[in-house]
Amino acid sequence: MNLGIAGRKAIVCASSRGLGRACARRLAEAGCEVVINGRNKDAVEATAAEIRKATNAKIIAVAADVATPEGQKALFAACPEPDILVNNNAGPPFRDFRELSRPQIIDGVIANMVVAIELTQKVIDPMIARKFGRIVNITSGTVKAPLFGLDLSSGARAGLTAFMAGVARSVAGANVTINFLQPGTFDTDRLKSNFEMTARKRNITAEQAKAERMAGIPARRLGDPDEFGAACAFLCSAQAGYITGQNLLLDGGAFPGAF
Ligand SMILES: NC(=O)c1ccc[n+]([C@@H]2O[C@H](COP(=O)([O-])OP(=O)(O)OC[C@H]3O[C@@H](n4cnc5c(N)ncnc54)[C@H](OP(=O)(O)O)[C@@H]3O)[C@@H](O)[C@H]2O)c1
Repeated sequence: MNLGIAGRKAIVCASSRGLGRACARRLAEAGCEVVINGRNKDAVEATAAEIRKATNAKIIAVAADVATPEGQKALFAACPEPDILVNNNAGPPFRDFRELSRPQIIDGVIANMVVAIELTQKVIDPMIARKFGRIVNITSGTVKAPLFGLDLSSGARAGLTAFMAGVARSVAGANVTINFLQPGTFDTDRLKSNFEMTARKRNITAEQAKAERMAGIPARRLGDPDEFGAACAFLCSAQAGYITGQNLLLDGGAFPGAF
């Protein structure tokens, strides 16, 4: 399927590894010019080189912390008026909510809610003027079904979802869409470290922790980040212009509800 976005400019935040990287790769395959981002310079440059080589697309590496004003400035210096923005950032670590200090709670809200709002503020008006814009927010399946220890992540992302629900309706008339991808359990570095932590806590191996998690997923496997990247690219496509304010859960059937 030709996604109709060749030549479009995309910023994919937090994309040197994992889900962000998979989104960047699929957008590059669709012919977009893509900004790759992450804090570790070597990792960002290595990923940019790999995607450039595989797709022949123009790829710009920006080593920067997306949560800081300087980091955001660096992203927009590399791509002043993106047509596509994929909001992504690290999630907070697992923690019993009783242990969270006030600064930790505020940091979590900044990381998983405020940053995406700030970036959206910066891109939205030029998108409206050009009558094309696609914003995809990577949130989490925990927005729909909470997971013990990830309450801060769930709360901040649910806040972002509600905030953007109204914004999405206010810009839809200009062919600017805002949607949400909710990952369940994808095979990324973040997940590996979660399995290792569960293993240490329960005195089992990381492989056992992973097997237990997979057993609870109807698809009986972890998600492949490339499946996630493909869904993201579709939401950024020309054809997806009538889909806005929606949450797409990608979890191998783990959420048990009919709706
Ligand atoms: N994997 C899953 O199944 C799953 C499930 C639910 C929710 N999620 C959420 O989806 C998001 C992506 O997860 P993932 O599994 O892809 O994580 P990951 O494999 O750990 O990759 C995270 C990426 O974000 C970059 N990054 C982290 N903090 C950054 C910052 N402040 N500024 C710029 N780049 C930053 C990392 O590079 P540097 O470290 O070099 O900065 C890396 O490229 C997270 O918010 C996670 O909580 C994932």
